[in-house]
Amino acid sequence: MLPYTIVTGVSQGLGEALAAELLARGGRVLGIGRRSSSSLSGERYAFVPCDLSDVRVAAPILASALASVAAVQPDRVCLVNNAATIEPAGVLGVLDVDAIDRSLALNLAAPAVLADLFCRTFDDDAVERRIINVSSGAASHPIPGEALYCIAKAGLEMLTRMLSAEHASPRFRAITLRPGVIDTPMQAYARSQPPSQLPSVGMFRGFHSQGQLVAPHVVARKVVARLVTGEVDDARTYRYDEL
Ligand SMILES: NC(=O)c1ccc[n+]([C@@H]2O[C@H](COP(=O)([O-])OP(=O)(O)OC[C@H]3O[C@@H](n4cnc5c(N)ncnc54)[C@H](OP(=O)(O)O)[C@@H]3O)[C@@H](O)[C@H]2O)c1
Repeated sequence: MLPYTIVTGVSQGLGEALAAELLARGGRVLGIGRRSSSSLSGERYAFVPCDLSDVRVAAPILASALASVAAVQPDRVCLVNNAATIEPAGVLGVLDVDAIDRSLALNLAAPAVLADLFCRTFDDDAVERRIINVSSGAASHPIPGEALYCIAKAGLEMLTRMLSAEHASPRFRAITLRPGVIDTPMQAYARSQPPSQLPSVGMFRGFHSQGQLVAPHVVARKVVARLVTGEVDDARTYRYDEL
């Protein structure tokens, strides 16, 4: 049976594809982000508008969103911390404080706030709970021009391990997903940058020119089948090529 799944960042890319796949399989989805997608609709879909780059404003909105999920008393719930940004590209030395604040808020603080609220809202072992943190190889490989993204993904992977360390239960799982290279607007943004802004732009252009990008719906189908509905090992990092 599918869990009631909360997905952040459903307007495009992987989050939109995950929500669509879950709905197509008969699941219930709560999308959270600045915008929804016209491809997502129906009585099993709800959307809560929320800018996750300002966590002080977002926190009460997120608390009430999770309470609305708890109100229907699901047997299984899953949180997918998917929303993220690689904008603005730029090396340390050209970044400004607002960009640093908003990037780290969206990519790291918001997943931590959501995880905290999730643990508080669903504190009963009768409910089967799972948190999937969508990370990247950037968590362990520095990408020049993307310091904030790399720093946040490294922290996000520790969030998975902390959840596992603090919430050990056969009914609670926290895992990390490194979804591989996906054909989304995030990749399009990266390869459109000048090398002066994103010194590693050649890597992103190479993913595209060598046909390495995978369609979001292909990744989503595997993630839902293997990581949302299947058995998983607590605290483990799953790479796309293992799914
Ligand atoms: N694409 C890849 O090759 C790749 C590789 C490794 C890991 N990943 C990871 O996979 C996940 C999905 O990436 P993607 O490629 O699908 O990215 P994407 O195309 O850029 O989509 C990101 C999503 O996050 C939402 N978002 C952005 N800023 C937000 C904000 N301030 N508040 C709320 N939501 C916000 C966006 O919605 P709005 O802008 O409409 O708000 C959008 O729905 C991310 O965690 C990314 O790090 C992607």
